[in-house]
Amino acid sequence: MTTITEFQMRKDNLEDTREVIHEAPSLANGEVLAKVDRFAFTANNVTYGIVGERIGYWKFFPVADEGWGIIPVWGFADIVESKHPDVPVGERLYGYWPMATHLVMAPDRVKETRLFDGAAHRAELPPVYNAYGRVKAEPGYDGKMDDDRMVLFPLYATSFCLYDFLKDNDWFGALQVIIPSASSKTAIGTAYATKDDATSPKLVGLTSSRNKAAVEALGLYDQVFTYDEIEKVDAERPAVIIDMSGNGDVLGALHKRLGDNMKFTSNVGVTHYDANAIGSDFIRERSAMFFAPGHIQKRTSDWGPGEFEKRAFAFWHDAAIKSRDWLHIEKKAGSDAVAHAYHDVLAGKTPANAAWVVGF
Ligand SMILES: NC(=O)c1ccc[n+]([C@@H]2O[C@H](COP(=O)([O-])OP(=O)(O)OC[C@H]3O[C@@H](n4cnc5c(N)ncnc54)[C@H](OP(=O)(O)O)[C@@H]3O)[C@@H](O)[C@H]2O)c1
Repeated sequence: MTTITEFQMRKDNLEDTREVIHEAPSLANGEVLAKVDRFAFTANNVTYGIVGERIGYWKFFPVADEGWGIIPVWGFADIVESKHPDVPVGERLYGYWPMATHLVMAPDRVKETRLFDGAAHRAELPPVYNAYGRVKAEPGYDGKMDDDRMVLFPLYATSFCLYDFLKDNDWFGALQVIIPSASSKTAIGTAYATKDDATSPKLVGLTSSRNKAAVEALGLYDQVFTYDEIEKVDAERPAVIIDMSGNGDVLGALHKRLGDNMKFTSNVGVTHYDANAIGSDFIRERSAMFFAPGHIQKRTSDWGPGEFEKRAFAFWHDAAIKSRDWLHIEKKAGSDAVAHAYHDVLAGKTPANAAWVVGF
């Protein structure tokens, strides 16, 4: 008898967590049981919880108990039971998993290097999250990059989308790109992509004082300021803001300082979980939410199937190799390690140059 261990959190209070153990259900025809091997945990995953009700992230791995949920994570799993003719035991998948030991899946649209989880409750959710890489069949698959992939692929794919979106919009006429929460990995990826393009505007990073030296040391941003140095931002230069912080005070102060020169703000992330209240200085009419899966769907229809993945993968691979100069991946196993990584990231204690890879 297989038991499943789940790490659950209260949807309205992410600090309240518990471990729930139950028997694995028996598989129906067409289903498989995946055993989650290991996964990454960064601020991105906490954000899935913060915006879970609004964007629907709790719907991927629902639990019976109303009020509780499971945050999704990116990682690898192995098929340990199968009632699907094309997905054998021993298959290894990369994709979107619950913080749990196992997931029952209903593989659908099974192709050589990819399949989807066709579970009914996921049908309406963005396809990017329902797709899984069949890694053993991927051309050029390199297991030595598994950790980099879990931590960085979802983030740097978003960075690639952001660069592509800004470029496609002629940078909204900006001469500077300002990135609050510049020490986040999604921000750093965006900086890599922007820096690679000699025609890009200059890059300004905003960060907390504890992370300023590390952000400067990356050598990617032309200027780095702390959140209490917003008066040093050049208000004469038209600016586009790529916001990872979701910090209402920071955005209000930036918008007030830039005025008409605030050409566009892309609201990407919410790393400052406790500071989301948007004040009266925030310029709503030139701000919009950015949702990477939406951009990926747009590019898939513009460029044809597989092309976005090819370009994003090439970008991620190159940037991940560069990131080895500064990124420390902390690897731990066991229920306590999962809980520790979760609470460490939630409390903002994980250093900017670090990331967790954990498993039960
Ligand atoms: N819209 C989309 O489609 C999309 C896709 C991918 C990612 N994102 C978002 O991008 C953001 C960055 O994700 P990531 O995984 O790249 O982040 P990360 O690398 O884990 O970010 C770490 C940084 O976030 C800030 N931070 C983290 N916890 C904090 C806390 N409790 N209090 C204050 N600051 C805290 C700090 O930056 P500073 O000191 O520099 O502020 C810290 O160095 C997330 O909100 C994520 O959801 C959005």
